[in-house]
Amino acid sequence: MAMTRSALTATAAHEALLSHHAEAKDWQMRDLFARDPDRFTRFSVEGGGLFLDYSKNRINESTMRLLTALAREVGLEKRRDAMFAGEKINSTEHRAVLHTALRAPAMATIEVDGQNVMPEVHRVLEQMRGFSDRVRSGQWQGYSGKAITDVVNIGIGGSDLGPEMVCRALRPFTHPRLTMHFVSNVDGHDLDAVLSKVNPETTLFIVASKTFTTIETMMNARSARDWFVSRRGEQDLPKHFVAVSTNAKAVQDFGIDTQNMFPFWDWVGGRYSVWSAIGLPVAVAVGFDRFTEFLAGAHGMDEHFRTAPIESNMPAILGLLGVWYRNYFGTSSVSIAPYHQDLSAFAAYLQQLEMESNGKRVSRDGDLLDVATCPVIWGDVGTNGQHAYFQLMHQGTDVIPVDFIAALKPNHGLAAHHPVLLANCFAQAKAFMRGKTADEVRSEMAQQGVPADEIDALVPHRTFPGNRPSNMILMESLTPATLGALIALYEHKTFTQGVVWGVNSFDQWGVELGKVLAKSIEASITGPQPGVHDPSTNGLIARARAALGS
Ligand code: F6P
Repeated sequence: MAMTRSALTATAAHEALLSHHAEAKDWQMRDLFARDPDRFTRFSVEGGGLFLDYSKNRINESTMRLLTALAREVGLEKRRDAMFAGEKINSTEHRAVLHTALRAPAMATIEVDGQNVMPEVHRVLEQMRGFSDRVRSGQWQGYSGKAITDVVNIGIGGSDLGPEMVCRALRPFTHPRLTMHFVSNVDGHDLDAVLSKVNPETTLFIVASKTFTTIETMMNARSARDWFVSRRGEQDLPKHFVAVSTNAKAVQDFGIDTQNMFPFWDWVGGRYSVWSAIGLPVAVAVGFDRFTEFLAGAHGMDEHFRTAPIESNMPAILGLLGVWYRNYFGTSSVSIAPYHQDLSAFAAYLQQLEMESNGKRVSRDGDLLDVATCPVIWGDVGTNGQHAYFQLMHQGTDVIPVDFIAALKPNHGLAAHHPVLLANCFAQAKAFMRGKTADEVRSEMAQQGVPADEIDALVPHRTFPGNRPSNMILMESLTPATLGALIALYEHKTFTQGVVWGVNSFDQWGVELGKVLAKSIEASITGPQPGVHDPSTNGLIARARAALGS
């Protein structure tokens, strides 16, 4: 395979960034703040209802000038416009990438193959409105005439992570009668745990799969149907099973009436699909008006990304800062730290969004890249992470850039908690930036009267290197609109980085090999003969056959 200069390394800005980095790598953020009292104002931006403080990064104005020049040189604006215009930028699957159309106003005209997609988008939204209204009002009833109390979404990847994360995030807005459940894993423990809690009389299953062929989802859906039919019979299935898919035929073959199917389209990628009918659990949980606010929040961020100059474009800035650390400082992971319990699924959601989009090693033309692409994305809510892995981030050997996310106002009435939460969030960012020098440790310990020999022994352990970068994303409060904007912010950050690295952010061929191998290994585990694999796989299969009595 030919090795190519990537979109990034082929630019003049890259050469300039390399020399700039040779100086910047020794900068201390403490000094940068001491020299420039306006740093917070200079390096913060508002857009789409969110605020980003990016002053605690190892940057100065020249860094940002060079990074924006890089974005222009790789053609970020042109590719962004091509995405919004419905061009087939997913080149390996010959598809347009139009999740932005799903949240555009009804009167917009957005064409794919000469056809305006907006009437169809809004027809399905109306279908979702009608259905979610009926479930919430109790008009949609189970076989015994009772209102639905439990909704079980069966899906995986983008057909699970988006709706689950959003339903969790909007928990305070959920209809009090409804409990939302999400089953994704082919591991039967997942479905079993939910089925043991719900009553078939009042449970609605949403089978969500873009392709309606995904093995995990189809197996879970079949088992859920068998569970229901064994308790009630086939005749009542339509009151308890609906589907969300692009594949009407497979939905029908499964036994769900297409009347009860909510369609979407091949130009919606799985990990970008929560805005489509895949968001049906969200509409049911929080109501269609709130779902509309969620779409509008994302649209606000779309408009910001589409129109703001790169210098003040929040998703572009976030993406370019990521490139700065990944490709010049050589960092290999990014930690996501939402200081909001209701965003507990946000890092997992971003793992699919960023790592499935930009976890690629070839260019759009298929040449091997000469740059590192997507870092590992991971994290959990604050303050919990502080008492687990923040130790490594403060004093470990790796520099891990962090994105802090916080809401200024809570969605609860426990007034004393929120200032403590915010204080911890801001304190961590400050600690990462400033660290604590050996001199500071010494004088602090001396003031406490610690003996000199003990001070000497403890100073290295109690010193913090600091100079560890972070971004701070703030919103007024976590609402459907601000959540929509937050997700769209990360979608466009991911897009920006994909353009800089020159990859196709919209395919996911890397998931295929394991799927194919699993089929033949399953046959080896359950079939009459174990088949022939490599010695390790043969040994594992033999153990599984013995345990399962195959
Ligand atoms: O296996 C990866 C993947 O294709 C994801 O991209 C997608 O979100 C997920 O599987 C689920 O696919 P589907 O919605 O077709 O069941």
